[in-house]
Amino acid sequence: MGMGFALRWAANHEIVIGSRKADKAIESAYAVKQILDHEGDVWGADNSSAVSEADAIVLCVPHEHLSSVAADLTGCIKGCVVISPIVPMSYNGKFFRYCPPSEGSAALQAKSLLPADARIVSAFHTISASALAAREVELRADTFLCGDDQQALELVRGLALEMRSIRPLMVGPLEASSLIESLTPMLLNAARKNKIKDAGISVVSEGKAAQIGDIKAPCG
Ligand SMILES: NC(=O)c1ccc[n+]([C@@H]2O[C@H](COP(=O)([O-])OP(=O)(O)OC[C@H]3O[C@@H](n4cnc5c(N)ncnc54)[C@H](OP(=O)(O)O)[C@@H]3O)[C@@H](O)[C@H]2O)c1
Repeated sequence: MGMGFALRWAANHEIVIGSRKADKAIESAYAVKQILDHEGDVWGADNSSAVSEADAIVLCVPHEHLSSVAADLTGCIKGCVVISPIVPMSYNGKFFRYCPPSEGSAALQAKSLLPADARIVSAFHTISASALAAREVELRADTFLCGDDQQALELVRGLALEMRSIRPLMVGPLEASSLIESLTPMLLNAARKNKIKDAGISVVSEGKAAQIGDIKAPCG
């Protein structure tokens, strides 16, 4: 997921790719710059350095590693927006299922692990990583957003709108994140059973998918 976000946001933002190993992050940043023909500011650093100056970070880590990564970041995050696309799920050989932690969702768990001034927004769970990384591809998908901080929601809404073409749909407070996280295993099951590659979700209105321009109301 991280590569896709970097590729799609680098035109408008300075991007710092984080890793547990700075060397790996620097290699990833170089790979992104090559794809972008060396346009854009893209850097690599260890996770804690990567987040220290950030206005917004995306937690692109598997759910089972959320607590260890959060522990590494705790002293370095200063009131920034933290985006969680994390989906806690498992596969039992037959189907994917949602496996929320005791906090109720990955986003609420992130909130409990990170400093109180981290402004968590839950988003991008139903966007496929490979579709995201194909930056020339029009995604034509909706993403559902949950959060408690209005400014943070606006920022993530803007970031979604920058990507071709993801429509951000507000769902509710961070407490509602389990609803949107649980869509991913459902989507993966449907995609697998029906042989759909890089499946996404689009909410329709009166029988047709709405366009990004149809969403006029501010979030909230
Ligand atoms: N893949 C998708 O299509 C998709 C779609 C929607 C949402 N998501 C969610 O987005 C998140 C990222 O998914 P992804 O597919 O990008 O994950 P991924 O490629 O499997 O892993 C992302 C990064 O997690 C770090 N990581 C791996 N093992 C770790 C460990 N033991 N401790 C700490 N960090 C570790 C690695 O970074 P370093 O080795 O560089 O530290 C790795 O590059 C997940 O929570 C997933 O549920 C994924």
